[in-house]
Amino acid sequence: MAKQNIYDNEVFFEGYRKLREKESNANDLFEIPALFSLLPDLKDKAILDLGCGFGEHCKGFIEKGASKVVGIDISEKMLEVAKAENSDPKITYLNMPMEDLETIDEKFDVVVSSLAIHYVEDFTGLIKNIYNLLNPGGVFVYSQENPINTTHSTGERWTRDENGEKLYVNLSNYGIEGERESVWFVDNVKKYHRMFSTIVNTIVDGGLTIEKMIEPLPTEELLEKYPDQRDLFHKPDFLLIRASRKV
Ligand SMILES: C[S@@+](CC[C@H](N)C(=O)[O-])C[C@H]1O[C@@H](n2cnc3c(N)ncnc32)[C@H](O)[C@@H]1O
Repeated sequence: MAKQNIYDNEVFFEGYRKLREKESNANDLFEIPALFSLLPDLKDKAILDLGCGFGEHCKGFIEKGASKVVGIDISEKMLEVAKAENSDPKITYLNMPMEDLETIDEKFDVVVSSLAIHYVEDFTGLIKNIYNLLNPGGVFVYSQENPINTTHSTGERWTRDENGEKLYVNLSNYGIEGERESVWFVDNVKKYHRMFSTIVNTIVDGGLTIEKMIEPLPTEELLEKYPDQRDLFHKPDFLLIRASRKV
């Protein structure tokens, strides 16, 4: 199956890096707090981070007491930054696609992935590998683009009034799963759309128990500072899930 390494594209990499450096980006405001709220106590835990990018979370897991973290990423450029800015004797960074997880010969207490799994075509195979990598009692926590977001295929995302103000989000082809190409810093960025039911059923059929989901929304306090974030009431940008391997 196709594996895309768009983060090694120079233009994409620079665009993404600038976005993450922006004050109050959506990751900082919504996704990261939600992700960390789903994590169990990390003290003395072994963690695997799929699509670890710049390694900021890997460092955060060590600060929360993890005994060891393995961060994997398909992008050499992302890992260069991770090694330069977020290294630690307890962290190992591996340049590999998460489609090849069966080559990792050890078990983890927690498998985490932040906004990387929507780049993977074979979700069933990925969940099978994650199950096998988890110790019994282990936890899988991940975030992805919300299915309401990944469904977008062609045309304008929003219907607007005559003044250009957003009225509501356009939804089409929700029931047609699979590859979507979008323009994000560069042309032809591939992501995979899966319906909510497919996501839930794949995780459950893979032997994991879903414990909690979050679709982060802004608080009134946050809206006072960032009124544009009201858009999230039309379409949540993120979906986060915590699931566990019981035995
Ligand atoms: C949006 S970034 C998120 C980075 C990091 N998890 C964070 O939240 O800061 C997505 C990351 O997933 C990585 N990625 C995409 N597809 C991947 C794959 N098939 N296997 C491993 N990593 C992948 C990218 O290279 C990139 O570093």
